Amino acid sequence: MALNAFKQANDIDLVLCTGDYTALGLLSELRNAATLIAPLLDVPLGYVTVPGNHDIYAKDVIKNDHFYKNFGTGMQTDMPEYRTDGVWPFVRLFDENVAVVAVNSAKPNPIPWRSDGHIPTAQLEALDRILDDERLKSRFVFVMTHYAARLEDGEPDTRLHGLHNADAFLDICRKVDKGALLCGHIHRRYRVALDGLNADLFCAGSATKARHEGFWLFDIEGSEYQVRPGSYDAHRGAYTLGSTRT
Ligand SMILES: [Fe+2]
Repeated sequence: MALNAFKQANDIDLVLCTGDYTALGLLSELRNAATLIAPLLDVPLGYVTVPGNHDIYAKDVIKNDHFYKNFGTGMQTDMPEYRTDGVWPFVRLFDENVAVVAVNSAKPNPIPWRSDGHIPTAQLEALDRILDDERLKSRFVFVMTHYAARLEDGEPDTRLHGLHNADAFLDICRKVDKGALLCGHIHRRYRVALDGLNADLFCAGSATKARHEGFWLFDIEGSEYQVRPGSYDAHRGAYTLGSTRT
């Protein structure tokens, strides 16, 4: 409710969600989550999403593609020629200024103490080609996936919790001249600049975890952009924006 109120008060055009809508990815959870966030996703340009590892635990949910059936509206593509792995990767082009490229790093983790991710090689190779596409060259490019390629200190996450091929992913993302890398999975909102990359990494944090609620708000105008952190004020019951950063 508070996020939806923020959306309405701030004329949000586009919503990007980096996954982990649920705890176990049960069909009932996915349906509830889709219903709960539907008002938030009702914005002029729509929304783009990737699944988190928590959204694809259950075998029958994977087999029956229930994540896509509930959230597929946010997984469409304007460049189907780059799909190499089911719907992945997908690309959305918005107005003249913005592109969103999504690759999937979430995979089933049947062992409870493992929550690590991997981007399939075919998707990385396609991402490499997408970032060379002329249609993206003049745009602000968001590259999004669930797992965090780096933590807030610039170091990789642990082997049992991190993105296995983070280095290969970041090497390809060096091609992004103007843009941002977006991730979830870590329940803290942070921004980190990475050596050799023009695009910083932004972790959304959690929209619902008490005292850790957060998001990032991007304001993109032509070749200029500003980004502000969003936080939840429990006393006011509302999300507020921090100072502008470029
Ligand atoms: Fe996660």
